[in-house]
Amino acid sequence: AVATPTLVSEILRLKKERNAVILAHNYQSKEIQEIADFVGDSLGLAYHAKETDADVIAFCGVHFMAETAKIVNPTKTVILPDADAGCSLEQSCPGPQLEAFLKANAEKNYYVIAYINCSAHVKALSDCICTSGNAVKIVNAAPQDRPILFVPDQNLGSWVMEQTGRKMDLWKGACYVHVEFTRDSIQAIKDEYPDAAVVAHPECTYAVRVLADVVCSTEKMVHYCQASEASTFIIVTESGMLHRLEREVPGKRFIPGPTGHCACADCRYMKMNTLQKLHDSLRDLTPQVNMPEDIRARAEKPILRMLELSR
Ligand code: 13P
Ligand code: SF4
Repeated sequence: AVATPTLVSEILRLKKERNAVILAHNYQSKEIQEIADFVGDSLGLAYHAKETDADVIAFCGVHFMAETAKIVNPTKTVILPDADAGCSLEQSCPGPQLEAFLKANAEKNYYVIAYINCSAHVKALSDCICTSGNAVKIVNAAPQDRPILFVPDQNLGSWVMEQTGRKMDLWKGACYVHVEFTRDSIQAIKDEYPDAAVVAHPECTYAVRVLADVVCSTEKMVHYCQASEASTFIIVTESGMLHRLEREVPGKRFIPGPTGHCACADCRYMKMNTLQKLHDSLRDLTPQVNMPEDIRARAEKPILRMLELSR
């Protein structure tokens, strides 16, 4: 939706009336990032969701992120502007399938580390959650005497293995957006901008990660580009990240990493949220994110372990 002054002021009025906080992920549209109280990565958003004293959390991101907010702050009303904003990583690891796998492999006594991009059911089956921002720390802190099962992202999992030297069994999930970057598409843009630094998300494949100057979470991308001496960066992640970088790192140039068939990469789930839907959800307090209390309580433990370990 176009950010007309009326729509923006109506959202701000409703936000006040509802005593709501607007949290937005780095992949949201420019208009949503501009109206949000806080814009960040999955880890920063989880901390904010836990600590807010607002009555309503309007979560502009995807379903698992809003669900995480509800898990750690259950007395709040959590709304997601579009209830269909899912995630291909979450879909790649259905709870019942993980449950059956763990049962069939009970003798292994796996320590399960789940990337936060998963359902509450999967979180409830896990020992610790991680995000791309703290995955190395979380894996380093895992017990040495148990094998690790890492779910659901095999690319993040193999990157963490490279970083830590710790062997893990990997679930075969992937982000449909990040696997679209190819060795050829990134090499071609590097050739076009030979002085640019290449910044990639760990959900990219190994063939792409090896071409990058740095591999990190979306939040760390901001810090890296601020501190780097380079003046041009090729950003190999979802296109929304460029708005955040342009806002917080002025005077530098950001080029979106092209995929095998597109000049930049959009996550169709992240882009389902619009200003109009945000407005309507604040007005109607729907769609709300809820889950059975037993799942919530079980899912909360590994999230709290993560928040504690990554402080
Ligand atoms: P970050 O934790 O780096 O924000 O990544 C979230 C995500 O969905 C990446 O595709
Ligand atoms: Fe999920 Fe990939 Fe979209 Fe992130 S970019 S929300 S991992 S589908």
